Amino acid sequence: MALLWTILSIVALAHSQTFNLLQSYKGLDFFNRAFTLYEGWDPTFGYVDYVSLTVAEQYGLVNITEIGKTGIARWGVDTSSILDPNANLGRKSLRLHSVQTFTHGLFVLDVAHVPADVCGTWPAFWLLGNGVWPTTGEVDIIEQTNNQKSNIMSLHSDSVPNCTIAGTGQSGTLLTNDCAYANSYTGCTVSSNQLSGAALNGAGGGVFVLLWTSQGMQMWTFHRSEIPPSIKSKTKAPLLSEFGLPVANFQGSCDFDAHFHEQQMIFNTDFCGSNAGETFQTHGCPMATSKSWESCNIFVANTPQAFLESYWEVNYLNVYEVVSAPAVPASAPEAPRDFTSYAGATWPASWTAPAPFSTPTRAPANNPKVPRPVMGQTVVNPSVETAGPDMTKRDYSLGRLPSAFGRA
Ligand SMILES: *[C@@H]1O[C@H](CO)[C@@H](O)[C@H](O)[C@H]1NC(C)=O
Ligand SMILES: *[C@@H]1O[C@H](CO)[C@@H](O)[C@H](O)[C@H]1NC(C)=O
Repeated sequence: MALLWTILSIVALAHSQTFNLLQSYKGLDFFNRAFTLYEGWDPTFGYVDYVSLTVAEQYGLVNITEIGKTGIARWGVDTSSILDPNANLGRKSLRLHSVQTFTHGLFVLDVAHVPADVCGTWPAFWLLGNGVWPTTGEVDIIEQTNNQKSNIMSLHSDSVPNCTIAGTGQSGTLLTNDCAYANSYTGCTVSSNQLSGAALNGAGGGVFVLLWTSQGMQMWTFHRSEIPPSIKSKTKAPLLSEFGLPVANFQGSCDFDAHFHEQQMIFNTDFCGSNAGETFQTHGCPMATSKSWESCNIFVANTPQAFLESYWEVNYLNVYEVVSAPAVPASAPEAPRDFTSYAGATWPASWTAPAPFSTPTRAPANNPKVPRPVMGQTVVNPSVETAGPDMTKRDYSLGRLPSAFGRA
């Protein structure tokens, strides 16, 4: 009886958490002042060119008028240009960073479509802290590589104090339990057993949830027909009691508050680089040379039509404060937001109107060669804000990366 009572109290405690809506992002929010576009080359060596909104509209990556009309944020990658595989900037894509940072919270992302599992791609929805990576942590909620069917959920932390997870109380499969960067770039990882990529899109998309408290992080995935009623209702706060077993349960020997704080939310669709490039060969993707990275770049450069399904379609992203959690969410003040554009879906007057759409040119000149930083040099790139990984720790020359090089 005493044991039963204890079990009941623990369950009751877990379910007593309630959630207050802090932010709800939808439609043009993703291209208004709630998110900023990170531009230029990729800190994780991808064959990508993260572009501005103006360029994104010119190349058909995004249609602001359409988003204004539908209220659904949809963006993709360049699906028409043939590129130079040896250029340092690769295929045009977008990388969105939230302006507001969060410590703790319940994050609910409703997607109608995620980038499909396609060779050469490395899409992610993730959270990243400030400073030298990964001292303030990284949380990966969606991360897929090449043609792999499984979504990999992971955490990356510093090694002191060490942070390891038990891998119990979850439906997904524990792949690695050490979240610390000192031992590998992999972090602690869980392979999801839920629909992801093309299969999730086939089911009408779904909802990804992250619960982050001082006690750890839990992640869930629900495809469209399985979304818990409280989330589906949109008017109620989500009820944890409806969620069931998490796909990933990051709990164990880890001081989560020491490792994870003030995170920005990021969406990006990368190509090749330190993850998809590194694993291109082992994933059975089409090899043009004996080198995995090089073959990945060649494939991405030459087959724009392969990426027609590499787009995001986000219905909304809600962030809730966890009311019963002991620590207080610390949020940076949000930049002023302009909602005047919403009713008529016209762009706010304070913004420069994107250039009119023109047919993309099919020329290698689309991806100019830019100098890459060299190992050990301090990199000054105005497009990389302070929240980026430590660029001085990376070796940018293709082929000279450690084979264990993983996600950053
Ligand atoms: C953008 O969307 C608008 C509204 O749906 C449409 O009229 C227009 O043709 C689209 N532009 C492009 C380049 O597809
Ligand atoms: C983690 O820290 C604990 C306590 O300091 C120590 O006993 C353990 O050996 C450490 N584990 C690793 C993998 O470093």
